[in-house]
Amino acid sequence: MIYGVLADVHSNLEALKVVLEFFEEAGVEGYLCLGDLVGYGPDPEECVRRVAALPNLSAIAGNHDLAVIGRADLQWFNQYARAAVLWTRGRLSAESRRFLEGLAARLEAEEFTLVHGTPRNPAEEYLLSPEQFQDNVPFVKRWPLFVGHTHMPMLFRYVDSAGGKAETLFLDEREMTLARAPGGPFAPAALNPGAVGQPRDQDRRASCAVFDSKAGTFRVFRLPYDIPGVQAKIRAAGLPEYLALRLDYGQ
Ligand SMILES: [Fe+2]
Repeated sequence: MIYGVLADVHSNLEALKVVLEFFEEAGVEGYLCLGDLVGYGPDPEECVRRVAALPNLSAIAGNHDLAVIGRADLQWFNQYARAAVLWTRGRLSAESRRFLEGLAARLEAEEFTLVHGTPRNPAEEYLLSPEQFQDNVPFVKRWPLFVGHTHMPMLFRYVDSAGGKAETLFLDEREMTLARAPGGPFAPAALNPGAVGQPRDQDRRASCAVFDSKAGTFRVFRLPYDIPGVQAKIRAAGLPEYLALRLDYGQ
């Protein structure tokens, strides 16, 4: 199946619309959503609605989703994130809130495993190093593993088939082919599609990815969207100015 992979939408409707249009044109058949649908941005309700309506959707909860529904401690959030969480709580319909409440922290399917942060600590740990990847391998049965949370498109894998040493690759838009035994399962690999709504790799364009489970390929795509439009909405909503500014710099 061809999957559209999206993470960290963060209530950024302008970015989400561009990504969903792209997925449709790309012939995507199913969707993997890796958490943090809400928080930071000005359109939580519409973003939840659009993602919840996607066909063949597999989705999990991120730390901001959990905070908005009262299942994560706000003391771990910085002042900007906390302000946005509190603002978002008053702007979700009962239906969208129920959708977020129904998301698990981890989802294991035939062709993949999904978590927001890491398998051993889905809501909190940021997967950034090869050592962390290796430490998390025992917690996964189905590969590839898809993660979000860092807002950076990345791949983690073993350097060789012996599985001794792992590496981290920052992904551009080149297609990556995942290692697998002939006709068998994929070798351990963790993939992050980057953030739809708040990229942090100095590239301000929305980030998303396409995973072809049959061909065993994963490819990141970067898409320009209406940043000034989102910034105007952030300001009109009275959300922190920093949340508008950071979209310009991709961090
Ligand atoms: Fe996030």
